[in-house]
Amino acid sequence: MTFVAFHTGAGGLPKLAVTTVWSTAEIYLHGAHVTRFQKLGEPPLLFLSEQSRFEANAPIRGGIPIIFPWFGKPADKPGQHGFARHCSWTLKEITTAATGIVTVRLVLPPAPELRAGEIAVEYVVTIGDALGAELIVANHSAAAFDFESCLHTYFAVGDIDAVSITGLEGVDYLDSLDGHQPKTEANAAIRFVGEVDRTYLNTPHPVEIRDESLRRTVRVEKQNSASTVVWNPWIAKSKAMPDFGNEEYQRMVCVESGNVAENQITLAPGQTDSLKVNLSTEGLP
Ligand code: BG6
Repeated sequence: MTFVAFHTGAGGLPKLAVTTVWSTAEIYLHGAHVTRFQKLGEPPLLFLSEQSRFEANAPIRGGIPIIFPWFGKPADKPGQHGFARHCSWTLKEITTAATGIVTVRLVLPPAPELRAGEIAVEYVVTIGDALGAELIVANHSAAAFDFESCLHTYFAVGDIDAVSITGLEGVDYLDSLDGHQPKTEANAAIRFVGEVDRTYLNTPHPVEIRDESLRRTVRVEKQNSASTVVWNPWIAKSKAMPDFGNEEYQRMVCVESGNVAENQITLAPGQTDSLKVNLSTEGLP
């Protein structure tokens, strides 16, 4: 049965709860933030910190923060990872297809950085057997618009020691833990034995997270995304983050799909950009 309802979520923030025949999901208007997606009979796909803040002007820690219109902390920008993740988005439409798939469409309110509405930003979340997310940016202004974007997805894992990531072998990356030095991924399967913070560039291919503990593989398929960021804060950074539990690094990994650094987008007047991911799971034999 398909069911969609509005609730008051954590911190009094409004959230949408969606039930389909395959799955349940929750989306906060704050940040257009998908905080939960869970297939029936499976553990949650997304990690959500028990220490997360749920308040205006602060991002939610976990789920899928939308990073836009800049990634990281450029010297000329106020704050980290743009402002889209801590704005209240507007719900535009909810539709249910004959197949039972629910589509939720949200709009980012006009802001001075978005040329007072001439840069139109929509986010489309698709809930079914898989979770789909699409960030659409349209330039209705008379000048080119440069931006970075990233769907900063926190995946829930059973035990970080039992996780490996494939699909990035041979890909060049910037190592944020080593002064953003360019390096090349030598491993067919990336495992975690310490903090990892890498921006892989020019890589449109799918990435898989193999989780021996939860006995599943998560597949991240992307369209029009040239960058993949892999992040786990490990012990010291977890302790330093006030909105993240000291031990929670063991139960999450971020595999983020976007266009950042040299993959940033320049959108000519009249052009539209669509960044799309499809997140699915399959049990391990
Ligand atoms: C990742 C960055 O995308 O986001 C990391 O690569 C950063 O460097 C992480 O620490 C979390 O950022 P924030 O602003 O949500 O704490």
